[in-house]
Amino acid sequence: MRKIIDPYFQISDFTIPVAGLKESVEIMQISDLHISHADADSSEERKEKVERQKNAWEPVRRHFANRYGDSIESEHMIDPEEGWQRIISAMNQSRPDAVIFNGDMMEDYSPENLRFLSEGLRRIEIPWMWVCGNHERGHDDEYAPWMDGHPDCQLSVVKGLQFIGINNADKQVTDDQLAKILSASVLMPSVLVMHIPMLTKYNKEATAVFGEYFLMGTGEVCESTRRFIEYMEGKDNPIAAVLCGHVHGKHISEYRPGKVQICASSCMVGSCNRIRFIPAE
Ligand SMILES: [Fe+2]
Ligand SMILES: [Fe+2]
Repeated sequence: MRKIIDPYFQISDFTIPVAGLKESVEIMQISDLHISHADADSSEERKEKVERQKNAWEPVRRHFANRYGDSIESEHMIDPEEGWQRIISAMNQSRPDAVIFNGDMMEDYSPENLRFLSEGLRRIEIPWMWVCGNHERGHDDEYAPWMDGHPDCQLSVVKGLQFIGINNADKQVTDDQLAKILSASVLMPSVLVMHIPMLTKYNKEATAVFGEYFLMGTGEVCESTRRFIEYMEGKDNPIAAVLCGHVHGKHISEYRPGKVQICASSCMVGSCNRIRFIPAE
């Protein structure tokens, strides 16, 4: 992967050893851009809504950045629509093995937002995966063409490493999703990709910095989600790592001893992760 020289990006590096991996896989993890877009021919009402949404985020993205240690210099505070164009250019120039978009790429679903996002996805020249965030939920049919036909559980293999992308935007993992995770993860080294990070018995202290809103596994947890979390806590689970977004702050915790869950901060301030998966000794 070539160096990213655009000063918009605040990149954090992680290296994760993966058992059974034959060669290194280097990815970029990007999340929570919260794009609001109006086309030139959008209604006045739509244009006003976009303006309102952008204004509302202005103090909030500063708040998150201050809370979690991201810089808010002018080069990081660009409009998310401009950020999206910079992301596409940076990915095509630096060419990581893949780019993972961890959800909330759009502020909400609208035809304008999805057109704007998908027009960019179409121009990305490396493998990518986008999973649904809570801001985007409820429109799986529209997302299916951009999620390999399976927004609930999409699979993609890059250089022998499988990415299993699930939609957990409702803070739930269904029986069907769990069955797919179980059957896919035994096939080859795998990484789980979802929007909302999970609370397990092992990362309670590390994730205490987040409130209940930001975690899956708090409050009332449905039976299949509970079984999913138990599976992730278990020793036999072959998943090498979990990648999430949602919290708008860079964060790493062990969901079980030796296995990490990495949250990307918000790309609303250019913050993202570069992760090298390397063959375990
Ligand atoms: Fe978000
Ligand atoms: Fe979110």
